[in-house]
Amino acid sequence: EQNLEQNERESLFIALNFAKDFFVKNLQSEEGRSIGLSYFKERGFTPQIIEKFDLGYALDGWDHFLKAAKTAGFQEDILFKAGLVLQKEGDASRIYDRFRGRVTFTIHNISGKAIGFGARILTKDKTQPKYINSPETPIYHKSDVLYGMFQAKKAIRDFDNCYLVEGYTDVISMHLSGIENVVASSGTSLTEGQIKLIKRFTNQVTVLYDGDAAGIKASLRGIDLLLEGGLNVKAVVFPDGDDPDSYSRKVGSQAFQDYLKENSRDFIGFKIGLYQDEFVKNPIRKAEVIREIVQSIGKIPDPIIRSVYAKEASGLLQIEEEILHAELNKSLIKNQ
Ligand code: CTP
Ligand code: MN
Ligand code: MN
Ligand code: MN
Ligand code: MN
Repeated sequence: EQNLEQNERESLFIALNFAKDFFVKNLQSEEGRSIGLSYFKERGFTPQIIEKFDLGYALDGWDHFLKAAKTAGFQEDILFKAGLVLQKEGDASRIYDRFRGRVTFTIHNISGKAIGFGARILTKDKTQPKYINSPETPIYHKSDVLYGMFQAKKAIRDFDNCYLVEGYTDVISMHLSGIENVVASSGTSLTEGQIKLIKRFTNQVTVLYDGDAAGIKASLRGIDLLLEGGLNVKAVVFPDGDDPDSYSRKVGSQAFQDYLKENSRDFIGFKIGLYQDEFVKNPIRKAEVIREIVQSIGKIPDPIIRSVYAKEASGLLQIEEEILHAELNKSLIKNQ
């Protein structure tokens, strides 16, 4: 029983590795070079970064991968369990490639083995999803994985800080800007498993989500979860419409690094910054923001750190500390 499961996991790793090599190789094929490689080049990706992240290309067509894998001896059921092929609805005997005519981003586990792929569309076709991703499999539990952790873990330890971004290309562009302690939540909300993973390497996270309404909303949710996990949290806001990838390419790596330094705020400064314009004119809005900040402070498990932040909030918001503490106690009771 145990052995069967172990054997299956091993087969899945081998299939994923075969797929990774296949996509990497096909980026250098005639089709891959003219479509995939030229796309990466346009985004400023170098041959070195393409190799470091195992970026590749899935040929356009229904079964290029399937045929190659079968020729190499892989059985269809393993390819299916690996999430590499799909079955036609109502006809399980008709199977075809999941990733077709897209550039591929290899998702690695923390020891560097391929466990899944994200694949980006190259046309402006709005009827197709921008990214197609591997499904959950026995070796890819999405809620326990952060994109880029294998390439980032040493730098996260060395700098004792982890930058958290939304997307694959944000991770890669930050490496190109000389910042390697960066991982992506891949557009989904952060999970406890991902926070545990970060805590193996550092207790400090800086959230760098996209500078749009969705990104800011996701930052607010992520920050509370990180605080609950006992992490020290900072955040940076990008200009509306920019993400770390677009902004770093716009301003260049030195100005990008300076921007991060100058605009990193702790979670209280981040929240005040978001709402400041509204609440200078509107005391009711200010009260709401205070309550929101107090609720975030209430998530911090360590009472001493909690009280340090309460003091900071009291100073920044010009609210007496006793009032903040009374409100904080209410939110602590609610959390129990
Ligand atoms: N994502 C996804 N499926 C989609 C859209 C997004 O899985 N249809 C995930 C991807 O991991 C993506 C991340 O969410 O990297 C952030 O999405 P978005 O900001 O829209 O994409 P970018 O990473 O900025 O990609 P690009 O710069 O190529 O447009
Ligand atoms: Mn499992
Ligand atoms: Mn986005
Ligand atoms: Mn983005
Ligand atoms: Mn982007």
